[in-house]
Parts: sequence; structure tokens; C-alpha cells
Amino acid sequence: MPKNIQIAVVGSGYVGLVAAVCFAEMGHDVICVDNDERKVKALQGGDTLIHENYLPELLQRYRNTKVRFMSDLAEATRECEAIFIAVGTPQSETGDADLSYVEAVACEIARSITSYKVIVEKSTVPVYTNEWIRRAIERNGVARDLFDVVSNPEFLREGTAVADFLHPDRIVVGADSERAAAVLGGIYAPLTEGTYYQRADAIPGSCGPTAKPPLLNTSTKSAEIIKHASNAFLAVKISFINAVANLCEATDANVEQVAIGMGMDARIGPKFLRPGIGYGGSCFPKDVAAFRSVAEQLGLDFSMLSEVEKINENQKKRFLSKVRTALWTLRGKKLGVLGLAFKGETDDIRESPAIDLVEMFLAEGCSIKAFDPAAMERTAERLPAGPKLSYVESAYAAADDADALLILTDWAEFATLDLKRLNTTLRYPIVIDGRNLYDPHVMLENGLTYISVGRPSAI
Ligand code: UGA
Repeated sequence: MPKNIQIAVVGSGYVGLVAAVCFAEMGHDVICVDNDERKVKALQGGDTLIHENYLPELLQRYRNTKVRFMSDLAEATRECEAIFIAVGTPQSETGDADLSYVEAVACEIARSITSYKVIVEKSTVPVYTNEWIRRAIERNGVARDLFDVVSNPEFLREGTAVADFLHPDRIVVGADSERAAAVLGGIYAPLTEGTYYQRADAIPGSCGPTAKPPLLNTSTKSAEIIKHASNAFLAVKISFINAVANLCEATDANVEQVAIGMGMDARIGPKFLRPGIGYGGSCFPKDVAAFRSVAEQLGLDFSMLSEVEKINENQKKRFLSKVRTALWTLRGKKLGVLGLAFKGETDDIRESPAIDLVEMFLAEGCSIKAFDPAAMERTAERLPAGPKLSYVESAYAAADDADALLILTDWAEFATLDLKRLNTTLRYPIVIDGRNLYDPHVMLENGLTYISVGRPSAI
């Protein structure tokens, strides 16, 4: 029977908050610490602050009982056996991960250690960070046998974060101490022993009632590299298929057929081969740059990653050219924009290629009516509404009297629009889709000129 463990999670961003409520869902007692008092109050009151499926339910179920929110890291350290660091590691000007928050947390934890603690890196950090954390803690006077530092990278995706956390493909525990590895093994036992999936009220996901996700034990450094290498590899896959899509456009081939054909090879796999306007979000751009920088600092050539970044940037420019080709000149053109978030089912706009494109079209002199089911408020903070940019209440309002409609985010609801209505709402029936949400033949049947990524237009 898995045992209940006292866990502290430092940081209540995407990873920290999701980890905190999911650990509670797995049966543990959790203290989630954030130094932002306003956030702590909001979470105590049941406001999730981010748009994420199942988060409201889990927060409602556990807040102020199995998950307590507070800003007192000293108290959390004293009470808990495992302390997960899930604070931000933003990109610094040089491309490196800025680890100042991690260091500050490590030093603060050190000041309150009086019994054995496992300190867990949950944030994405470069290799060797575990050693820096260890040194920082020792420098603050903590005896070496009173703590271990382990790496337990998180692979959840925004939009499906809770389900991903509870139904992982794998759990990676990088520990150089058996004692620490055993604590982490205990924390994840409800998943690895499968007891969680037998519960009638388990959050649904890819693991069925007999599932037991594997837990991979590695060295701490290997675990750190697994996280960076995984994200960088996924970014490679996306840039690769985008480059192939461009080749398909030049040859009138269909990238969807190509991706299916490639993906049927079990060595390649079908996932992350969707072409588009380039990857964005708070992870891939930052992690590719950080991983490249790690290699550079070690004197190693990983310029392949610079090419990945270059293809990613170019993908936005190619989309702009497509719009230019469809509309001839851009100055004064009215564009409807569907989607501002960096991908569907999230309100996150960090490094969103959709927003970069909105800025590019505004700079070209276009006026824009934009709609996003969840990300408009956040976007308006960065790009306030004005004479050239308005935020509207529906996809059809964005299309109203527009010279063309642009699909920039893959929200599921954008894939099921009433095409007849769209046709009559638009000034010119032109849809330029950066996410390949429609079948070109269906668009043609509905009288729409449809331009997508790496696929021939239907004729
Ligand atoms: C990514 C990883 O998928 C997670 O495994 C990882 O835990 C997370 O980063 C992290 O490091 O925290 P996330 O950024 O939430 O997750 O989103 P993804 O679903 O991976 O999408 C990233 C970007 O790639 C989006 O802009 C998306 O539109 C784009 N993408 C994704 C494509 O253009 N094509 C694809 O086939 C897949």
C-alpha cells in the first residue's frame, strides 16, 4: 500500500501548481509555497490563475486540506521530507537558463534544514545544477548527510497538464543516493504500482486500470540532460516537418501524407510531426537555446539546434508571405485572426508565434480583429486594443467583413466552424490556415479559397 508522504512544492506556476494538486490526488500531503502573497491568497480562495483542464476540480477537492498554500518556505521545509523546486528558470540574455530563483530557494531551504530532506529539481535546469544546489546548501552550513539533491524532470504539456502528470509515459528519477531514490519511488508508487488507475474517480488519461508507468532511475546529471534533450528533440521534430512541409509546397506534394508515411515507422513515430507556424510556448524556445548554450560552454558543436531555431523563425515569415501572395498588398487590409495562445486549449501566450504574427501584420499596416477562446485578456495586456487592433467575441465576429481569415492557434473549436456562415461573413472568402485544421476539399466545396501548410490547395 503506497504511503502518504509530506511534500513541499516551491513555485505555483504551471509545473508547481499541477504537481502540488496531483501529488495530493495521489494521496500525499502537500504544501505549495509561493513568495507572491496575492497568488497564495487567490489559490487559497480556489482561483486556479491558469486555464487547465481538471485543475479547478482538483484545487476544489484539496485546497486548504491536502494542499495548503503559503509563502513560508521555512515552515514548509521543516514539515516536509521532499521539497520540489518548481520555480521559473527564464532565459537570460545569453540564452542560458537564469538560475537565480533556484539558487535563492536552495539557500532559503538550507537555513531551515534540521532533519533529512530530499531536494528535488522539478524545473527544467541545465546539467550540473544539482551540484550547484548541493554546494549552495552546504555553504549555508548544512551537513552533507542531512540532504540529497535529485532531478525529477516533468514532461507535462500545457493544456493537458493534469492528465499528463498522472498518466506519464515515464517517470525519470535522477539520484546519486539510494535513500533519496527510495523517497521518490514512494512518492510515485500510486502510479508505478498502478493503484491510482484502479480508482473509480481517477482523472482519465492514457493509462488504463492495469497500467503501471515505468520509473527510470538514472544519475542526477543524466536526468537533467534527459529533460533538455527531450524538449530539444521534439523541437527538432517540429522544425524538421516544417522544412519538409516547405519542400512539399515547392513540389505540390502533401505533407500530411508524408508525415503519416514517416510516422508509421516505429522508429520515427507519428507524434510531433504537425507542421505549422513554428513552435512557441514557455519551454521549447527557451530550452533549445539553453541546451545549445550548455553545449557551447562545454566547447561542443551543437549548431544543429541553431538551424532548428532558424527554421522555426522562418516559418512565421513564410506564413506572412502566404498572406501577401493571397492578398497582394497588405497595407490597409482587414484581417480576422483566430487564435493568440501559443497552442490550443491554453491561455498561455508566452513566445506565441500567433502573437508574433499579429505584430508582424500590424507593422505591415493591416488592421486586425482577433478572437481567442481564452487568451484575449492576456494578449490585450501586451498588445492593447486600438484603432488597428480589436478583440472580438467570436470567430464569426473576427471574420466579419475581413479580407481574409487567418487561423493561428489549433483550438479544437476552430476546426468545426460553420463554413457556409464563414463564407458569407468574410468580405473575400479566403482562409489562410497556419495549423492545417481543415480538409482543403471541404473548404473548396464551401466556396472558400483555402491556403494551408505543406498541402496543395484543392482544385
Ligand atoms: C512541451 C513538451 O511537449 C512537454 O513534454 C514539456 O514538459 C514542456 O514543453 C515543458 O518543458 O514544460 P508545451 O510547451 O506545453 O510542452 O506544449 P507542446 O504541446 O509540446 O507544444 C509546443 C509548441 O510546439 C506549440 O507551439 C505547438 O503548437 C507546437 N507544435 C507541437 C507543433 O507546431 N507541431 C507539433 O506537431 C507539435
